[in-house]
Amino acid sequence: MYENAFSSLIDALLLVSRDGIVLKSNPAAWEMFRRSPDALESHPIADLFPDPADVECRIEGALTAGESYSDLECLAHRNPGGPAFPAGLTISPLLGKRGDCQGAVVMVKDLSLLKELEEGSRQVSTLSTAETLALRMAHEIRNPLGGIRGAAQLLGQELTDFDQREYLDVVIAEVDRINRMVEQMMQLTRPAGATFKETNIHKVLTDIILLEKDDLARRKNRVEQVYDPSLPPIEADQDQLKQVFLNLIKNAAEASGKKGRIQILTRVNSGYGIKTRPQGRTRQGVVVEIIDSGTGMDAETLKNVFTPFFTTKKKGTGLGLALSLKIVENHSGKIKITSEKGLGTTVQVLLPIRQR
Ligand SMILES: Nc1ncnc2c1ncn2[C@@H]1O[C@H](COP(=O)(O)OP(=O)(O)OP(=O)(O)O)[C@@H](O)[C@H]1O
Ligand SMILES: [Mg+2]
Repeated sequence: MYENAFSSLIDALLLVSRDGIVLKSNPAAWEMFRRSPDALESHPIADLFPDPADVECRIEGALTAGESYSDLECLAHRNPGGPAFPAGLTISPLLGKRGDCQGAVVMVKDLSLLKELEEGSRQVSTLSTAETLALRMAHEIRNPLGGIRGAAQLLGQELTDFDQREYLDVVIAEVDRINRMVEQMMQLTRPAGATFKETNIHKVLTDIILLEKDDLARRKNRVEQVYDPSLPPIEADQDQLKQVFLNLIKNAAEASGKKGRIQILTRVNSGYGIKTRPQGRTRQGVVVEIIDSGTGMDAETLKNVFTPFFTTKKKGTGLGLALSLKIVENHSGKIKITSEKGLGTTVQVLLPIRQR
Protein backbone atom coordinates (compact mmCIF):
# COMPACT_ATOMS: atom_id res chain seq x y z
CA MET A 1 0.00 0.00 0.00
CA TYR A 2 2.89 2.38 0.81
CA GLU A 3 4.37 1.65 -2.60
CA ASN A 4 1.02 2.43 -4.24
CA ALA A 5 0.61 5.66 -2.29
CA PHE A 6 4.13 6.66 -3.30
CA SER A 7 3.44 6.04 -7.00
CA SER A 8 -0.03 7.61 -7.02
CA LEU A 9 0.95 11.01 -5.67
CA ILE A 10 0.57 13.83 -8.19
CA ASP A 11 3.36 15.78 -6.52
CA ALA A 12 6.97 14.73 -6.85
CA LEU A 13 8.35 12.89 -3.83
CA LEU A 14 12.06 12.32 -3.26
CA LEU A 15 13.70 10.38 -0.47
CA VAL A 16 17.11 11.86 0.19
CA SER A 17 20.04 10.26 2.04
CA ARG A 18 21.93 11.97 4.86
CA ASP A 19 24.49 13.20 2.36
CA GLY A 20 21.95 14.75 -0.01
CA ILE A 21 21.70 11.94 -2.60
CA VAL A 22 18.31 11.01 -4.02
CA LEU A 23 17.55 7.43 -2.92
CA LYS A 24 14.09 6.99 -4.33
CA SER A 25 11.74 8.99 -6.57
CA ASN A 26 8.11 8.55 -7.61
CA PRO A 27 6.64 8.69 -11.17
CA ALA A 28 5.41 12.28 -10.62
CA ALA A 29 9.06 13.28 -10.03
CA TRP A 30 10.20 11.60 -13.27
CA GLU A 31 7.54 13.54 -15.13
CA MET A 32 8.14 16.85 -13.35
CA PHE A 33 11.90 16.80 -13.84
CA ARG A 34 11.70 15.02 -17.23
CA ARG A 35 14.24 12.44 -16.03
CA SER A 36 14.25 8.66 -15.80
CA PRO A 37 14.51 7.11 -12.31
CA ASP A 38 18.16 6.28 -13.09
CA ALA A 39 18.94 9.88 -13.87
CA LEU A 40 17.36 11.03 -10.61
CA GLU A 41 18.37 8.37 -8.13
CA SER A 42 21.96 8.24 -6.82
CA HIS A 43 22.45 11.86 -7.91
CA PRO A 44 22.65 14.87 -5.60
CA ILE A 45 19.29 16.57 -5.05
CA ALA A 46 21.13 19.88 -5.47
CA ASP A 47 21.36 19.14 -9.23
CA LEU A 48 17.63 19.83 -9.52
CA PHE A 49 17.86 23.44 -8.39
CA PRO A 50 19.66 26.34 -10.08
CA ASP A 51 20.22 27.95 -6.70
CA PRO A 52 20.56 24.98 -4.32
CA ALA A 53 22.02 26.76 -1.28
CA ASP A 54 18.62 27.46 0.33
CA VAL A 55 17.31 23.95 -0.29
CA GLU A 56 20.51 22.36 1.03
CA CYS A 57 20.38 24.48 4.14
CA ARG A 58 16.78 23.36 4.90
CA ILE A 59 17.62 19.72 4.26
CA GLU A 60 20.50 20.13 6.66
CA GLY A 61 18.04 21.55 9.18
CA ALA A 62 15.77 18.52 8.73
CA LEU A 63 18.70 16.11 9.11
CA THR A 64 20.41 17.65 12.09
CA ALA A 65 17.66 19.43 14.02
CA GLY A 66 14.70 17.30 12.88
CA GLU A 67 12.93 20.41 11.56
CA SER A 68 10.23 20.42 8.88
CA TYR A 69 9.60 23.12 6.33
CA SER A 70 6.59 23.67 4.11
CA ASP A 71 5.72 25.98 1.22
CA LEU A 72 9.31 26.88 0.55
CA GLU A 73 9.25 28.58 -2.86
CA CYS A 74 12.23 28.22 -5.18
CA LEU A 75 13.15 27.55 -8.79
CA ALA A 76 13.79 24.05 -10.14
CA HIS A 77 15.28 22.75 -13.39
CA ARG A 78 12.75 21.12 -15.71
CA ASN A 79 15.51 19.08 -17.34
CA PRO A 80 19.24 19.04 -16.68
CA GLY A 81 20.49 22.59 -17.14
CA GLY A 82 17.15 23.48 -18.79
CA PRO A 83 14.75 26.35 -18.09
CA ALA A 84 13.65 26.79 -14.50
CA PHE A 85 10.08 26.60 -13.20
CA PRO A 86 8.65 27.86 -9.90
CA ALA A 87 8.36 25.06 -7.34
CA GLY A 88 7.01 24.71 -3.81
CA LEU A 89 8.91 22.42 -1.42
CA THR A 90 7.97 20.59 1.74
CA ILE A 91 10.92 19.07 3.57
CA SER A 92 10.69 16.71 6.55
CA PRO A 93 13.16 14.42 8.28
CA LEU A 94 12.88 10.74 7.38
CA LEU A 95 12.84 8.96 10.72
CA GLY A 96 13.77 5.34 11.29
CA LYS A 97 11.98 2.94 13.67
CA ARG A 98 14.00 4.13 16.65
CA GLY A 99 13.39 7.79 15.83
CA ASP A 100 16.85 8.18 14.34
CA CYS A 101 17.12 10.46 11.30
CA GLN A 102 17.91 8.45 8.18
CA GLY A 103 17.52 11.19 5.64
CA ALA A 104 14.85 13.61 4.39
CA VAL A 105 11.58 13.45 2.50
CA VAL A 106 11.24 16.22 -0.06
CA MET A 107 7.90 16.89 -1.73
CA VAL A 108 7.94 19.17 -4.77
CA LYS A 109 4.90 20.91 -6.25
CA ASP A 110 5.01 22.46 -9.70
CA LEU A 111 3.74 26.04 -9.20
CA SER A 112 4.06 27.21 -12.80
CA LEU A 113 0.36 27.07 -13.61
CA LEU A 114 -0.52 28.73 -10.31
CA LYS A 115 1.89 31.56 -11.08
CA GLU A 116 0.48 31.92 -14.58
CA LEU A 117 -3.03 32.03 -13.18
CA GLU A 118 -1.98 34.71 -10.71
CA GLU A 119 -0.59 36.76 -13.55
CA GLY A 120 -3.74 36.07 -15.52
CA SER A 121 -5.94 37.36 -12.73
CA ARG A 122 -3.95 40.56 -12.70
CA GLN A 123 -4.83 40.98 -16.39
CA VAL A 124 -8.47 40.38 -15.55
CA SER A 125 -8.42 42.98 -12.83
CA THR A 126 -7.17 45.71 -15.17
CA LEU A 127 -10.02 44.66 -17.39
CA SER A 128 -12.64 45.09 -14.72
CA THR A 129 -11.65 48.71 -14.00
CA ALA A 130 -11.88 49.26 -17.72
CA GLU A 131 -15.19 47.45 -17.82
CA THR A 132 -17.16 50.02 -15.89
CA LEU A 133 -15.41 52.83 -17.72
CA ALA A 134 -16.00 51.24 -21.10
CA LEU A 135 -19.65 50.62 -20.46
CA ARG A 136 -20.28 54.18 -19.29
CA MET A 137 -18.35 55.65 -22.19
CA ALA A 138 -20.01 53.40 -24.75
CA HIS A 139 -23.36 54.49 -23.48
CA GLU A 140 -22.51 58.17 -23.61
CA ILE A 141 -20.86 58.04 -27.03
CA ARG A 142 -23.32 55.90 -28.92
CA ASN A 143 -26.40 58.08 -28.61
CA PRO A 144 -25.01 61.36 -29.95
CA LEU A 145 -23.21 59.41 -32.68
CA GLY A 146 -26.52 58.13 -33.99
CA GLY A 147 -27.73 61.73 -34.08
CA ILE A 148 -24.66 63.01 -35.91
CA ARG A 149 -24.82 60.25 -38.51
CA GLY A 150 -28.54 60.76 -39.12
CA ALA A 151 -28.15 64.54 -39.45
CA ALA A 152 -25.21 64.15 -41.84
CA GLN A 153 -27.25 61.81 -44.02
CA LEU A 154 -30.19 64.22 -44.12
CA LEU A 155 -27.90 67.11 -44.95
CA GLY A 156 -26.34 65.01 -47.72
CA GLN A 157 -29.72 64.64 -49.36
CA GLU A 158 -30.14 68.44 -49.41
CA LEU A 159 -26.72 69.22 -50.82
CA THR A 160 -26.20 69.36 -54.53
CA ASP A 161 -22.55 70.45 -54.51
CA PHE A 162 -20.46 67.28 -55.00
CA ASP A 163 -17.44 68.60 -53.02
CA GLN A 164 -19.55 69.41 -50.02
CA ARG A 165 -21.14 65.96 -50.11
CA GLU A 166 -17.67 64.45 -50.06
CA TYR A 167 -17.00 66.19 -46.74
CA LEU A 168 -20.17 64.67 -45.36
CA ASP A 169 -19.05 61.22 -46.50
CA VAL A 170 -15.92 61.71 -44.41
CA VAL A 171 -18.11 62.61 -41.43
CA ILE A 172 -20.20 59.47 -41.90
CA ALA A 173 -17.13 57.20 -42.40
CA GLU A 174 -15.45 58.54 -39.28
CA VAL A 175 -18.66 58.20 -37.26
CA ASP A 176 -18.82 54.58 -38.40
CA ARG A 177 -15.24 54.08 -37.27
CA ILE A 178 -15.99 55.35 -33.79
CA ASN A 179 -19.09 53.18 -33.74
CA ARG A 180 -17.03 50.09 -34.53
CA MET A 181 -14.64 50.96 -31.76
CA VAL A 182 -17.46 51.39 -29.28
CA GLU A 183 -18.91 48.06 -30.36
CA GLN A 184 -15.55 46.39 -29.71
CA MET A 185 -15.42 48.04 -26.34
CA MET A 186 -18.85 46.71 -25.43
CA GLN A 187 -17.84 43.25 -26.60
CA LEU A 188 -14.87 43.44 -24.32
CA THR A 189 -17.08 43.96 -21.32
CA ARG A 190 -19.79 41.53 -22.34
CA PRO A 191 -18.59 39.13 -25.02
CA ALA A 192 -21.59 37.64 -26.81
CA GLY A 193 -22.44 34.22 -25.40
CA ALA A 194 -20.18 31.74 -27.15
CA THR A 195 -21.65 28.83 -29.10
CA PHE A 196 -19.16 26.00 -28.93
CA LYS A 197 -19.15 23.80 -31.99
CA GLU A 198 -16.68 21.42 -33.55
CA THR A 199 -14.26 23.79 -35.26
CA ASN A 200 -11.47 23.16 -37.71
CA ILE A 201 -8.72 25.62 -36.80
CA HIS A 202 -7.09 25.31 -40.22
CA LYS A 203 -10.32 26.41 -41.88
CA VAL A 204 -10.57 29.40 -39.56
CA LEU A 205 -6.99 30.38 -40.43
CA THR A 206 -7.31 29.95 -44.20
CA ASP A 207 -10.59 31.91 -44.15
CA ILE A 208 -8.84 34.83 -42.46
CA ILE A 209 -5.88 34.79 -44.80
CA LEU A 210 -8.34 34.89 -47.69
CA LEU A 211 -10.14 37.81 -46.04
CA GLU A 212 -6.87 39.70 -45.55
CA LYS A 213 -5.51 38.74 -48.98
CA ASP A 214 -5.64 42.23 -50.46
CA ASP A 215 -4.05 43.93 -47.47
CA LEU A 216 -1.29 41.33 -47.28
CA ALA A 217 -0.66 41.57 -51.03
CA ARG A 218 -0.48 45.37 -50.88
CA ARG A 219 2.25 45.16 -48.27
CA LYS A 220 3.88 42.26 -50.12
CA ASN A 221 3.78 40.24 -46.90
CA ARG A 222 4.80 36.62 -47.34
CA VAL A 223 2.59 34.29 -45.35
CA GLU A 224 3.90 30.78 -44.65
CA GLN A 225 1.46 28.25 -43.30
CA VAL A 226 2.91 25.20 -41.58
CA TYR A 227 -0.06 23.13 -40.48
CA ASP A 228 0.04 19.90 -38.48
CA PRO A 229 -2.14 17.50 -40.51
CA SER A 230 -2.97 15.50 -37.39
CA LEU A 231 -4.52 18.53 -35.64
CA PRO A 232 -7.93 17.44 -34.31
CA PRO A 233 -11.00 19.67 -34.49
CA ILE A 234 -11.64 21.59 -31.27
CA GLU A 235 -14.76 22.79 -29.50
CA ALA A 236 -14.90 26.52 -30.07
CA ASP A 237 -16.93 29.49 -31.20
CA GLN A 238 -15.78 29.81 -34.79
CA ASP A 239 -16.69 33.49 -35.19
CA GLN A 240 -14.95 34.52 -32.00
CA LEU A 241 -11.80 32.59 -32.93
CA LYS A 242 -11.85 34.31 -36.32
CA GLN A 243 -11.77 37.61 -34.51
CA VAL A 244 -8.80 36.48 -32.40
CA PHE A 245 -6.68 35.29 -35.31
CA LEU A 246 -7.68 38.25 -37.46
CA ASN A 247 -6.37 40.59 -34.73
CA LEU A 248 -3.15 38.61 -34.37
CA ILE A 249 -2.45 38.35 -38.09
CA LYS A 250 -3.22 42.05 -38.56
CA ASN A 251 -0.80 42.91 -35.75
CA ALA A 252 1.89 40.71 -37.30
CA ALA A 253 1.36 42.32 -40.71
CA GLU A 254 1.35 45.84 -39.25
CA ALA A 255 4.60 45.14 -37.39
CA SER A 256 6.27 43.51 -40.39
CA GLY A 257 6.01 46.39 -42.80
CA LYS A 258 6.67 45.90 -46.49
CA LYS A 259 7.76 42.45 -47.65
CA GLY A 260 7.73 41.12 -44.09
CA ARG A 261 7.42 37.41 -43.48
CA ILE A 262 4.68 35.95 -41.29
CA GLN A 263 4.64 32.31 -40.25
CA ILE A 264 1.53 30.57 -39.02
CA LEU A 265 2.16 27.23 -37.34
CA THR A 266 -0.18 24.73 -35.76
CA ARG A 267 0.58 21.69 -33.61
CA VAL A 268 -0.90 19.44 -30.99
CA ASN A 269 0.34 20.05 -27.47
CA SER A 270 -0.12 17.15 -25.09
CA GLY A 271 1.54 19.04 -22.21
CA TYR A 272 -1.17 21.68 -22.11
CA GLY A 273 -2.88 22.22 -18.79
CA ILE A 274 -2.37 20.37 -15.59
CA LYS A 275 -3.35 17.12 -13.98
CA THR A 276 -6.53 17.73 -12.06
CA ARG A 277 -7.06 14.18 -10.83
CA PRO A 278 -4.40 11.76 -9.57
CA GLN A 279 -4.87 9.38 -12.47
CA GLY A 280 -6.10 12.12 -14.82
CA ARG A 281 -4.20 12.76 -17.99
CA THR A 282 -3.01 16.23 -18.83
CA ARG A 283 -5.58 17.89 -21.08
CA GLN A 284 -4.70 17.91 -24.73
CA GLY A 285 -4.65 21.17 -26.54
CA VAL A 286 -3.76 22.76 -29.82
CA VAL A 287 -1.23 25.52 -30.29
CA VAL A 288 -1.37 28.14 -32.99
CA GLU A 289 1.76 30.26 -33.38
CA ILE A 290 1.91 33.50 -35.30
CA ILE A 291 5.49 34.51 -35.82
CA ASP A 292 6.58 37.75 -37.44
CA SER A 293 10.02 39.14 -38.08
CA GLY A 294 8.78 42.70 -37.64
CA THR A 295 9.59 45.54 -35.29
CA GLY A 296 9.27 43.51 -32.09
CA MET A 297 8.53 45.17 -28.75
CA ASP A 298 10.53 46.48 -25.84
CA ALA A 299 9.85 45.13 -22.35
CA GLU A 300 7.61 48.08 -21.43
CA THR A 301 5.34 47.62 -24.47
CA LEU A 302 5.21 43.85 -23.92
CA LYS A 303 4.03 44.41 -20.35
CA ASN A 304 1.09 46.49 -21.54
CA VAL A 305 -0.14 44.78 -24.68
CA PHE A 306 -3.22 43.27 -23.03
CA THR A 307 -4.28 46.53 -21.37
CA PRO A 308 -7.39 47.90 -23.06
CA PHE A 309 -6.67 51.05 -25.12
CA PHE A 310 -2.91 50.54 -25.01
CA THR A 311 -1.60 51.22 -28.50
CA THR A 312 1.56 52.48 -30.15
CA LYS A 313 -0.18 52.98 -33.49
CA LYS A 314 -1.53 56.21 -34.88
CA LYS A 315 -4.86 54.71 -35.87
CA GLY A 316 -4.92 51.85 -33.38
CA THR A 317 -7.61 51.50 -30.75
CA GLY A 318 -5.56 49.18 -28.54
CA LEU A 319 -8.46 46.79 -28.12
CA GLY A 320 -7.31 43.97 -30.43
CA LEU A 321 -5.26 41.99 -27.93
CA ALA A 322 -7.42 42.79 -24.91
CA LEU A 323 -10.43 41.39 -26.75
CA SER A 324 -8.47 38.40 -28.08
CA LEU A 325 -7.30 37.49 -24.58
CA LYS A 326 -10.83 37.72 -23.27
CA ILE A 327 -12.13 35.39 -26.00
CA VAL A 328 -9.30 32.88 -25.59
CA GLU A 329 -9.81 32.83 -21.82
CA ASN A 330 -13.52 32.18 -22.43
CA HIS A 331 -12.33 29.10 -24.32
CA SER A 332 -10.22 28.11 -21.27
CA GLY A 333 -7.13 28.87 -23.32
CA LYS A 334 -4.06 31.04 -22.95
CA ILE A 335 -2.10 33.56 -25.01
CA LYS A 336 1.67 33.82 -24.60
CA ILE A 337 3.69 36.52 -26.32
CA THR A 338 7.45 36.63 -26.62
CA SER A 339 9.10 39.47 -28.45
CA GLU A 340 12.44 41.07 -28.97
CA LYS A 341 12.87 44.63 -30.15
CA GLY A 342 14.13 44.71 -33.72
CA LEU A 343 13.82 40.96 -34.21
CA GLY A 344 10.14 40.11 -34.17
CA THR A 345 7.32 38.64 -32.17
CA THR A 346 5.87 35.20 -31.51
CA VAL A 347 2.31 34.89 -30.32
CA GLN A 348 1.21 31.49 -29.05
CA VAL A 349 -2.45 30.69 -28.63
CA LEU A 350 -3.18 27.56 -26.62
CA LEU A 351 -6.65 26.13 -26.80
CA PRO A 352 -7.98 22.98 -25.13
CA ILE A 353 -9.49 20.42 -27.49
CA ARG A 354 -12.62 19.91 -25.42
CA GLN A 355 -14.49 22.27 -23.20
CA ARG A 356 -14.81 20.58 -19.84
N1 LIG B 1 3.13 41.44 -33.64
C1 LIG B 1 3.46 42.56 -33.00
N2 LIG B 1 4.67 43.16 -33.16
C2 LIG B 1 4.98 44.29 -32.51
N3 LIG B 1 4.16 44.94 -31.67
C3 LIG B 1 2.93 44.41 -31.46
C4 LIG B 1 2.51 43.20 -32.09
N4 LIG B 1 1.27 42.92 -31.67
C5 LIG B 1 0.91 43.90 -30.82
N5 LIG B 1 1.91 44.81 -30.69
C6 LIG B 1 1.91 46.01 -29.82
O1 LIG B 1 0.81 45.91 -28.92
C7 LIG B 1 -0.04 47.05 -29.05
C8 LIG B 1 -1.47 46.63 -28.77
O2 LIG B 1 -1.96 45.77 -29.78
P1 LIG B 1 -3.52 45.65 -30.05
O3 LIG B 1 -3.75 44.70 -31.16
O4 LIG B 1 -4.19 45.39 -28.76
O5 LIG B 1 -3.92 47.12 -30.48
P2 LIG B 1 -3.53 47.88 -31.81
O6 LIG B 1 -3.06 46.91 -32.85
O7 LIG B 1 -2.63 48.99 -31.46
O8 LIG B 1 -4.93 48.48 -32.23
P3 LIG B 1 -6.21 47.66 -32.79
O9 LIG B 1 -7.26 47.87 -31.78
O10 LIG B 1 -6.48 48.24 -34.09
O11 LIG B 1 -5.81 46.20 -32.86
C9 LIG B 1 0.22 47.55 -30.45
O12 LIG B 1 -0.07 48.93 -30.56
C10 LIG B 1 1.73 47.29 -30.60
O13 LIG B 1 2.49 48.26 -29.97
MG1 LIG C 1 -4.16 45.14 -33.27
